[in-house]
Amino acid sequence: MIAATSLSIQTPKHQEAGVPVNVQQLKQRYQAAGQGHLLAFYDDLNEEEQKKLLDQLETLNVERVNRIHQKATTCPSPMLNNQAALLAPLPEECFDSILEASKDKIQEWQTIGLNQISQNKVAVILLAGGQGTRLGSSAPKGCYDINLPSSKSLFQIQAERILKLQQLAQQQPGAVENVTIPWYVMTSGPTRPATVAYFQENNYFGLSSSNIVFFEQGTLPCMTFDGKIMMESKSKIAVAPDGNGGVYAALRGTGVLSNMAERKIEYLNAYCVDNCLVRVADPVFVGYCVQKNADCGAKVVRKNAPDEPVGVVCLRNSAFSVVEYSEIDEDVAHAINPKNGQLSFGAGNIVNHFYTLDFLNKVESFEGDLEYHIARKKIKSLDIQTGDVITPKQVNGMKLEMFVFDVFPFTERMAVFEVERREEFSPLKNAPGTGQDCPETSRRDILQQHVRFIEAAGGKIIIGEDDEQSEGAPTLEISPLVSYSGEGLAEIVAGKTIKTPLQVSSLDELKSAVF
Ligand code: UD1
Repeated sequence: MIAATSLSIQTPKHQEAGVPVNVQQLKQRYQAAGQGHLLAFYDDLNEEEQKKLLDQLETLNVERVNRIHQKATTCPSPMLNNQAALLAPLPEECFDSILEASKDKIQEWQTIGLNQISQNKVAVILLAGGQGTRLGSSAPKGCYDINLPSSKSLFQIQAERILKLQQLAQQQPGAVENVTIPWYVMTSGPTRPATVAYFQENNYFGLSSSNIVFFEQGTLPCMTFDGKIMMESKSKIAVAPDGNGGVYAALRGTGVLSNMAERKIEYLNAYCVDNCLVRVADPVFVGYCVQKNADCGAKVVRKNAPDEPVGVVCLRNSAFSVVEYSEIDEDVAHAINPKNGQLSFGAGNIVNHFYTLDFLNKVESFEGDLEYHIARKKIKSLDIQTGDVITPKQVNGMKLEMFVFDVFPFTERMAVFEVERREEFSPLKNAPGTGQDCPETSRRDILQQHVRFIEAAGGKIIIGEDDEQSEGAPTLEISPLVSYSGEGLAEIVAGKTIKTPLQVSSLDELKSAVF
C-alpha cells in the first residue's frame, strides 16, 4: 500500500546505474540536435555544477523535445485556422442537463454513483500542478485561505467533501466494510514540496494518509522562437511544467495507473484545484456517466459572457473537443444561436472530468497524436552570447503545454453533463480585490450556497445585527463534514430558524443553533 506516497518520473539514468557520462558523446548528440549551446559554458563550471548539468542533459530526450517544438510551431493546431468552419456547437442530444432533469432522474444517478463509491470503485485525481501566477500567491493554490469564517483552505474543503462522501456511501446497502475514495494529487516541481508539507502539517485533514497518493507531472524545456532550448543558468536548463495534460503520462510513468488497478478502481473523477464549489467525486455525475456507459465525461456550465476565460466544449470535425479561451476566435466566441438567443458555443468547461480506468490506460496508444500548445512568456534566462542572466521586459520565449481535455476527440463514448453554475463553479483565478473569480467571490459563493442549503431544507434565516455580510452574503458556513450538497439538514432545520453569523462544524452545533 502506498502511504501518502511520492512518485516522480524523473530520475537521472546514469546516476542509477553509476555509469560515468561520456561528455564528448553527449556534446555530439546535442550538437547534432542543434542544441549544442547547452554545453557552451561547461568548462567554466565547477565539478558539482558540471554534474548537475550532465544529469539534466542525460535525462532529457532532446530529439523528442525538438519534435514537440516542430509540431507545435509548424503544424499549429487546426483550431487556429478557420475555426468557424471546423467547429460546431454541441447538439442538444449530445448532452444532458441537471437543470432539466427530473428529481427522480437525479436521484437515480445519485444512487448509481453512491453504489459505485460504496464498492470502492471510484477515486479522484486532483490537478494541482499549476502555479497560480494570476492569483499573485507563491504558495500552491490549494493552500489558499479564501477567508471563510473557518479559515479552511481549498485543500481542506475538498478533503472534507471526500470524507463526507465516504460516510454517505458507507450507508448504502451492501457497502464494503471500509469505504474509501483514494485521492491522487498531481503536483509539479514548483508546487510539490509545499503541497506535501501542507498535507502532512494538517494531518491529511482527517483522511487516511494511505489513501492519498502524490505524483508529479513532467516538465518540458522552455524554448526560444527559433527552437533553441533556454538555460536558467550556466548549469541548468530552463524548464516548466508540461501543462495539466501532462497528467496522462504522469499517471502511467509514476505507477499511479497500476496503483489504481491494484485497488480495483474502475472510475475516476479529475478536477481542478481552484474551484471552491467543486463536488469532488460527485455521485450524481459518476452515476450519470456510468449509466451512459461513457468512457469519458465532462461537466460544463453555461458560459456567462463571450469573453469569460473558460474553454468551450463543442464538436470539431464532428469529434468532441474543447476550444480554449486563449485560442478561440472572436466570431466563434460571440456567435449567437438564433433559436434561443444564447451563445452558440456556450458549454463552458469547468475541468471536472470522468474517466474509466480502461480509457486512461488507452491514452498511451494515441499520445503521439495529442497537441502541444504554445504559451508565449517572459522567461528569465541565460544570454548565450554573454553568459549573463537576463530578466526580459518582453516576451522572449515559449513554454509548451499539453491540455487535459485534448484526449476528448479520442473518446469512444463521451458524456457531457451541464450543471448549475452557482452550485458547482466558482473558480479562484485572480488576486484579491479584482471582483471576478477572486478570493472574495469564492467566499461569497460558498456562503450563499449554504444559505440555499438551509432554505431548501425548510429553514429560515435571520440576519443578525452583528453580521457584517461581505459581498451581500449572510455569514453562514456549514462544514462539508455536516453536509456534502445540502443533504441531511431538513430533519434539524425544517420549520426552524437560525441566526447569522453562524459557523457550523457538526450536526450538534446546528441542533443547538436552531430555534
Ligand atoms: C482551465 C481550463 C479551461 C477552463 C478553466 C475553468 C485547461 C487547459 N484550461 O483554464 O478550459 O475553462 O480552467 O476554470 O485546463 N495545472 C496543472 N499543471 C499545469 C498547469 C495547470 O496541474 O502545468 C492545473 C492547475 O493547478 C489547475 C488546473 O490545472 O488545477 C487548471 O489550470 P489553470 O492554469 O488554472 O487553467 P485556466 O487557464 O484557468
